[in-house]
Amino acid sequence: MSEQTVKGAPARLAFQLYVGIGVAVFLLMMVAGAVLRMAQGAWIDIPANYFYQIMTLHGAGMVGTSGLAAAAVMWYFLRRHVDLSTGAFLTMLGLSLVGVVMILASIGIGGFAAAWTFLYPLPAKSAGLWGPHAAAGYVGGLIFIGVGFLVFYVDCAIAIIKRYGGLLRGLGIDQLLSGKIDTDHPPTVVASSMVIIINVIGIAVGAVVLVMTLVNLYVPSIAIDALLAKNMIFFFGHVFINATIYMAVTGVYEILPAYTGRPWKISRPFLAAWAAVTLVVMAVYPHHTLMDFVQPKWALVLGQVLSYLSGIPVLLVTIWGALANLHRSGVRWELPLRLIVFGLLGWSIGIIPAIIDGTIRVNYVMHNTLWVPGHFHLYLLLGLLPMLLGIMYFAATRANWQESVADRLMFWIYGVAGLVFCLFLLLGGSSSVPRRFAVHAQEWLMLTQIGAVAAVLVLLASLYLGIKLLRRLPHLQVGGA
Ligand code: HEM
Repeated sequence: MSEQTVKGAPARLAFQLYVGIGVAVFLLMMVAGAVLRMAQGAWIDIPANYFYQIMTLHGAGMVGTSGLAAAAVMWYFLRRHVDLSTGAFLTMLGLSLVGVVMILASIGIGGFAAAWTFLYPLPAKSAGLWGPHAAAGYVGGLIFIGVGFLVFYVDCAIAIIKRYGGLLRGLGIDQLLSGKIDTDHPPTVVASSMVIIINVIGIAVGAVVLVMTLVNLYVPSIAIDALLAKNMIFFFGHVFINATIYMAVTGVYEILPAYTGRPWKISRPFLAAWAAVTLVVMAVYPHHTLMDFVQPKWALVLGQVLSYLSGIPVLLVTIWGALANLHRSGVRWELPLRLIVFGLLGWSIGIIPAIIDGTIRVNYVMHNTLWVPGHFHLYLLLGLLPMLLGIMYFAATRANWQESVADRLMFWIYGVAGLVFCLFLLLGGSSSVPRRFAVHAQEWLMLTQIGAVAAVLVLLASLYLGIKLLRRLPHLQVGGA
């Protein structure tokens, strides 16, 4: 693989910080997740207000850490092609840590428990469980994190514009229009340009609704239109969480060729898929509002139709490209590669229950059930997380991993137990078990308890894999442009 190792220590240290903090927070949030599932399974007894505090922490912590870890992966590979600032990268981490402290204080001290989606007007209507300062701490924390991400994306955007003449050129739109495809144009630059475009717009919309919520907390007479607020929140949330996988996928484009020795060349369908998904991913969020009868009908129809398309073009070109790259390449299957390919599989499977839920008739019955956590845990726990872990392992080992029997065993435990955990959420959903219930009825307990056992097994395997990665941190290398 052609890559110069950067001599300067700051870039390496910055990436080590991201990986170290990312892995530690993921593990802690998994402990929180296992506690939630055991509480629902009636194995541990926690008061309902604490359950919702832990659920808020778990949701916000997992989504935020996914964003930061995936952004670190994008930074790691994009800097092979353009000049990125380590200062901007560290500013994102610094501002996010300030945000995290505020969020922790708002939940831990202030008792905030309105879920990570902070759906208006819930932050202001706590029935006495938390005060406006606690809600403001949470909302303010998210604003800090959002500003951190904007600093990072602006730096990436400037670097791509300098090198390629514009973000649309980075995305390859000029090549699509002219028909002249430059097969040496890096897929990482295509994916990064797409993410910058969608996530800057998403975070800007999120910032507006967060500031509006903040104002409303202290001046309740300045009310927000609840439907508008919901649309803005779900636009932001949906784009943000989708962008994590689009950032992580840069690792697939760069690492598979390192194993197979075959470059990942772009093609017209590849560019067309990324261009299409840039638009679709921003228009698809109304599938979160299919139950809102006051939402204009055309938006709901758009939500359903686009849900069928969203993500699929990029998934197809990525899976196809990965299979073509791996086919008869004689690669040595080792932990980092296994995790990455497993992640691609989880991503593909996770889309299926999402498409089912995106159908209006099904959504009326399923959307507030465990079907939805079942879908996104498939996509994130079995898609995004293994992909991120595999990429970080690769950064720490290059394609030179000495695999032990325990590594292989833990990989399989993670995969099988993770699948069981998600399947039992989906089974719960298909039996109409509601989501976000602190206490589960006697009739649901068997499903929940099997899920809880699987959760503990996933947690144990993750602890093994995570701690092993942390111990490899000193070996981590960072390439340069
Ligand atoms: C050991 C692994 C995990 C366990 C045991 C776990 C468990 C749970 C449970 C029990 C819930 C509440 C479900 C409900 O009743 O609505 C939940 C919600 C959630 N989880 Fe996980 N989870 C795990 C991993 C993850 C990962 C890897 C992510 C993302 C990267 C994630 C993101 C979320 C989000 C966003 C929510 C929604 C919170 C809300 O409804 O506000 N989880 N999880």
